Amino acid sequence: MRATAKAQPNIALIKYWGKRDTPRNLPAVGSVSITLADLTTTTCVDFDDALRGDVLSVNGVDNVEMMPRVARCLDTVAGNERAYARIRSDSNFPIAAGLASSASAFAALVVAADAALGHNHDTLYLAQLAGRASGSAARSLYGGYVELSNAGDDVALTQLCRPEDWPLRVVVAITASGPKAVGSTEAMEISLKTSPFFGRWVEQQDADLADVRAAVANKDFAQLASIAEHNCLKMHSVMWGSRPPMVYWNSATLACMQTIRDLQSRGLAVFFTIDAGPQLKAVCEPDHEAEVRAALSATPGVEEILCSGLGHGATQLDHD
Ligand code: PMV
Repeated sequence: MRATAKAQPNIALIKYWGKRDTPRNLPAVGSVSITLADLTTTTCVDFDDALRGDVLSVNGVDNVEMMPRVARCLDTVAGNERAYARIRSDSNFPIAAGLASSASAFAALVVAADAALGHNHDTLYLAQLAGRASGSAARSLYGGYVELSNAGDDVALTQLCRPEDWPLRVVVAITASGPKAVGSTEAMEISLKTSPFFGRWVEQQDADLADVRAAVANKDFAQLASIAEHNCLKMHSVMWGSRPPMVYWNSATLACMQTIRDLQSRGLAVFFTIDAGPQLKAVCEPDHEAEVRAALSATPGVEEILCSGLGHGATQLDHD
């Protein structure tokens, strides 16, 4: 009972920040993301009656830290009576550094586990299960421009636009590659309980979602850039206003923001977004990618640059 699946991280343009139901990991707000093509996580799940416990290896190294979350996720797919599993997960990019590696990891995990069991559940159901483990992982089941909305007592997902229909590029500036100081679940809880801006953040999200939906429908880059940067900075304002404050940026993150402002003032079609980590993600039109890449590479404090196009949702690779 073994299968392998591949998934890509996604980058939110309208952010998910805050939970309405912590035990079920349901978001307080809807979100919109783009799924990447070139950063991948490949996960093999092998259910084996001979095992006496689950075994996880991440990038070739045994990992006990992530095991409880991974085991809980497998329970949601296979049930509590399941056989133990050997799980092997490999990513071609830095993990646990605000690059959404948990999104691609849990998306690949549910698809591989479901295929290993021969269940063949539909994409929405698997996305809902991935979302239980990591809210943003639900979006990596789908490709291109993806909206996640709250629907009844669960979430619903819609592909707003296929990747090939608006093939923007993403340039990621890595400014620090260690794991983040505060994980997103804990940080969201602190924001909800202490940030004076949290209520307004939630209230305004529907308007931002409507604006981004229109921008994607019209392929209006300027409108997408303006709403995505605004939404990102609002999310970080919620974090900064929390007690204790959560500041994920470093000086290189700010230097990268300045680089993007300089490029914009020269007329380039580019904007930035930043998640719960110090990396800056620049989204641009394909013709401007080389210039964006060169400018971010030359920005002090940038350690590495990753580039990606937009890709498809999680897929099963093999099964035996
Ligand atoms: O899915 P989580 O728990 O890793 O939270 C993701 C939160 C952000 O990346 C900051 C925003 C988002 O919508 O992806």
